[in-house]
Amino acid sequence: MSKLPSTERLLLGPGPSPMAPRVMQALGAPMLSHLDPDFLPIMDDVRLRLQGLYRADQKAFTIAISGTGTSGMEAAVANAVAEGTRVVVVVTGYFGDRLAQMCSRYGAKVRRVEVEWGRACDPQRLRDELVAESADIVAFVHAETSTGVRNPVQELAAVAREQGAMTIVDMVTSLGGHEVALEEWGIDIAYSCTQKCIGAPSGLSPIAVSGPTRAQIMASGQKNNSRSFYLDFNLLEDYWINRKYHHTMSASLIYALHEALLMIDEEGLEARWARHKSNHLALAAGLEAIGLGLLPPESERLWTLNAVKIPKGINEAAVRQMLLQTFNIEIGAGLGPLAGKVWRVGLMGAGSKPYSVVVLLGALEAALLAQGYQESTAGAGTAAAMVILASMPDTT
Ligand SMILES: Cc1ncc(COP(=O)(O)O)c(C=O)c1O
Repeated sequence: MSKLPSTERLLLGPGPSPMAPRVMQALGAPMLSHLDPDFLPIMDDVRLRLQGLYRADQKAFTIAISGTGTSGMEAAVANAVAEGTRVVVVVTGYFGDRLAQMCSRYGAKVRRVEVEWGRACDPQRLRDELVAESADIVAFVHAETSTGVRNPVQELAAVAREQGAMTIVDMVTSLGGHEVALEEWGIDIAYSCTQKCIGAPSGLSPIAVSGPTRAQIMASGQKNNSRSFYLDFNLLEDYWINRKYHHTMSASLIYALHEALLMIDEEGLEARWARHKSNHLALAAGLEAIGLGLLPPESERLWTLNAVKIPKGINEAAVRQMLLQTFNIEIGAGLGPLAGKVWRVGLMGAGSKPYSVVVLLGALEAALLAQGYQESTAGAGTAAAMVILASMPDTT
């Protein structure tokens, strides 16, 4: 008979990230139904805290969609795209490609701005594309989890606005780990997930629709309902705000998200971003000391997801297997054209801490040594990481 896990895996892959004990305990709180008078204030508080986390305007529609990050992507597309909508999708990796596929399935006329995997999109490329032919929507991924690249979200959103297009932005690997400012950046719709930088289990997708965009979608929704019933913003608003049954939301997942959002507010957004940055810098220094480089150039790197180039002659699967079986650490493999070329190391939410950095570097050195790797001196990675950590504010 299969058994439930009894030891804590150090989750340093592309997600899920480790969960704080408080969040795990919240999952076990007594069950309430989705319209229980004691449950509704918890939902209201989640909405308010998501608005703060996204730094969205006062009238923004912020809820958690039932489903993983992909459901947030689908909700954004299902409510904004109709047959013939002209959408430009910036494709910088696997998830930009998924966004483009999703838009096509909902009937959009999609044009792709293809960017080399491992690089961010130059805003001028987007401008050239939109000047050549206008679009209704520009969609792109802020934090591309397949390549470890951070797109210049503020600049891309500014170009879209200047050219009269609305924006859909994937913040699945950035919300809670990198700076996000929806109102200031003029973003129309953004979505994320709960299992990465927020530090809750997977199963919900926080989404934010700006006040003016929401009004526009709601108005058009009266005439032309979204093709998706489950993800229709009008129906979801009826549930979240007007308290009408739409679907049986999981109270347990909302409790966990609520607890994780409380923890974020207690830590403070700026401190949380700084923590993610410091631990990333320490990991990058440690990797460099072992002779391992990151795929994106320094200025385009995420703090939350590190795409580590695999050295020649190393059996990448054997390294991951040893990390998992001997050291109880999970890291991710490469996706698509980067399969076999990079490992993906996530430092997200409760996983972004010096402990993760140092333990991973030590274990990685051991796993590389077992493969006959001779490019580093034992302990060089952890020593280099500790130098960076010592110079930073407390990042535990
Ligand atoms: C950037 C990005 N978008 C979308 C998704 C899809 O999220 P999920 O796997 O939670 O459905 C992921 C998952 O890793 C992601 O990294």
